[in-house]
Amino acid sequence: MFDLRVKDTNIRNELKKNFKNILDHGIFFFGPELFKFERKMANFLNMKYTLGVASGSSALYLALKSLGIKKGDEVITSPYSWIITSNAIVECGATPVFVDVKDDYNIDADLISKKITSKTKAIVPMHWAGHMCDMYKIKKIAKKHNLFVVEDAAQAFGAKYKNKKSGNFSDVAAYSMNPMKPFNGYGEGGLVATNNKKIYEKIKMLRYGGTTSDPEKKITNNCIEVSLNHKMDTINAAMLLVSFKFFKKKVTKLKAVKKYYDNYLDKKIKKQTTEKFETPGMYAYPIQINKRDKIKKFLEKKNIETKIVYDPLISETPAYKKYNTNDTPNAKRILSKTLNIPIHEKLTKKELKYVVDNINFSIKNL
Ligand SMILES: Cc1ncc(COP(=O)(O)O)c(C=O)c1O
Repeated sequence: MFDLRVKDTNIRNELKKNFKNILDHGIFFFGPELFKFERKMANFLNMKYTLGVASGSSALYLALKSLGIKKGDEVITSPYSWIITSNAIVECGATPVFVDVKDDYNIDADLISKKITSKTKAIVPMHWAGHMCDMYKIKKIAKKHNLFVVEDAAQAFGAKYKNKKSGNFSDVAAYSMNPMKPFNGYGEGGLVATNNKKIYEKIKMLRYGGTTSDPEKKITNNCIEVSLNHKMDTINAAMLLVSFKFFKKKVTKLKAVKKYYDNYLDKKIKKQTTEKFETPGMYAYPIQINKRDKIKKFLEKKNIETKIVYDPLISETPAYKKYNTNDTPNAKRILSKTLNIPIHEKLTKKELKYVVDNINFSIKNL
């Protein structure tokens, strides 16, 4: 599924160079590389403010915290996601309210309004595998009901819809840069992005124990709101700066893999849709197939790794039983049929052909 070894000598050399710089200057947190990284991210995403944080989990949690999400609030989201999408909501003290997904894996915007109550404060759409949610519809609903929108863009860094990058559709967006993501760090890492100065200032405070402390200031313990340490350290920021240099090249390769699968996988296989004016994040390549488990076993024997993800649905996990309203049949059905197949930049043409031939064979013959 992934080959995270760093084989490219140019990347290796740049990583070593940046690491050496940090050993030399010794500013291990709030170092110049962090601020350079944040400037570059804001520029790339076309957003006013970004902040590097410890992980995508921290990013989403801080995003919700910054909006004042708290006990008694309800937050609408999808049950078909990595558990953190909901854990961030519950960690704020709020109640997740699950809305079913469409065949493209993303939250069904047409079902959101029915779930809005007087307690609803926000909507958290997650761009599944980097495929953009129906953000124009979601924004319209949010505006009508005076709700915040927080994009869980963990899988959608650089994804675009109608020339607008993910992040630009919400009050605040959260990204993950863990090593598996298309824009990968070399350890845990995350980013929040917003155009709102107040939200930016609040997250800046919340990522640093809730203090207004600033490395240049003398007051260092001025806690405004209780919080923990969610900072991104300088080493991760410096490594991400290297990753960013090579990101475009990586995306080009991911696009080629996606195109190969789109063109050559059996037409009977249901793939995740890509909208006409969309550039997806390409974090994963899910296919929906009958006899999924049998096919997975067959592929395993052929040495082809595949993955079933987000099983069980968040709403069906022990921790979420009390929030489960058992009304997301589409998510349940799609989960039972979905298999993620390998998509990464190191796959060769020969390997891709091998994957496709074996999947197509198994569809016809199993
Ligand atoms: C949808 C989603 N949300 C949140 C996260 C959390 O990101 P991190 O692993 O960087 O904490 C991830 C990470 O995989 C994710 O896929």
